[in-house]
Amino acid sequence: MSQRWAWAEIDLRAYAHNVRAIVADTTTHRVWAVVKADAYGHGAVECARVALDAGAQGLCVALVDEGVALRRAGIAAPILVMSEQPPGEHRAIVANGLIATVYNETTIESLAQTAAELEISCSVHLKVDTGMHRVGVAAIDAVARAQCVRAEPWLSLDGIYSHLATADDPTRNDVTERQARMFAGVLNDLKDAGIDVSDRHLENSAGALRHVAEILRLDSRVGIATYGIAGDAASNSFGGNVSVHLAPVMSLKARVSHVQVLDAGEAVSYGLRRPLTQRSTIATLPLGYADGVRRGLWQEGEVLIGGKRRRFAGVITMDQVMVDCGNDTVCVGDEAVLIGTQGTETIGANDWARLLGTIGYEVTCGISARIPRVYLR
Ligand SMILES: Cc1ncc(COP(=O)(O)O)c(C=O)c1O
Repeated sequence: MSQRWAWAEIDLRAYAHNVRAIVADTTTHRVWAVVKADAYGHGAVECARVALDAGAQGLCVALVDEGVALRRAGIAAPILVMSEQPPGEHRAIVANGLIATVYNETTIESLAQTAAELEISCSVHLKVDTGMHRVGVAAIDAVARAQCVRAEPWLSLDGIYSHLATADDPTRNDVTERQARMFAGVLNDLKDAGIDVSDRHLENSAGALRHVAEILRLDSRVGIATYGIAGDAASNSFGGNVSVHLAPVMSLKARVSHVQVLDAGEAVSYGLRRPLTQRSTIATLPLGYADGVRRGLWQEGEVLIGGKRRRFAGVITMDQVMVDCGNDTVCVGDEAVLIGTQGTETIGANDWARLLGTIGYEVTCGISARIPRVYLR
């Protein structure tokens, strides 16, 4: 195990709490835990196991490799790959018993041929575009595409789903309602055509927690909320009242690797950009932008050391950052918190996101593989 003085703590107790709370809140339907992108940087295998124990119905990934890694870890639960994949990936989907997403006829044909060759039935979910306009079959063509799948003896149409574009924006509830209505229409058309599909899912975190399409009694695919992060960084909320208490799962920590006291007028790091206004203790931490501590944080971002909020003393470098600790005493080995809580102070992924003009998703996904994950169980 790495002894690096920079690590991410992944609190699996908090993750289990969040999944359980979300499952309990959505009593009328089931929850798929979204663990793509290494569980948004939290560690897919560990999170997947905990999510299933906590009541998730299945798992969602973006890539075939992500699904295969879960299978290799011994996870037997349903795993949905959430978009169509190139033909070269179809063999791995079928052989590993992953659920394929389809929306184009060419993909259906290629997948069916692969499944026939392997003589393994492949479970399929049809993705419908109800307004996000990223991927999916147009709603008007959904029944015809479902019939294409059903015509293939080695494909089993087990699911149908769509994705919401504005669920965390309360000023655009009309868009979400329109999407939900369109999806409900597709479900009705399928029923009229005599096509029964068991898994039907629509909502993401914001949709599920705000119960935007509760009346449809659908399943949901929940990612960011399970990691204890609100979808909208600006308001640090899901865009409306949410009754579920969520706990942050990831903390980013480091130990002070070097300490120096510099005089007023001295400056630190590339460009010597911000001369010190007083004699100050400067603590170096051994992590930088190659670890996901984005360079854009240096002017406004903060770090917790000794229970206090501290500013960066200069620009963030690739592997190290320097922190201005004023006239406090700091020692090599002291713990610093870049994301998380120390004493009474907390810095959240969404605090970074606001400074960087992004979303919490990008912050945790950006904590690179160089940072060892330490799991709290
Ligand atoms: C198709 C799909 N469903 C569900 C999710 C989960 O969204 P969230 O993390 O907002 O819950 C994502 C995330 O990007 C997605 O792409």
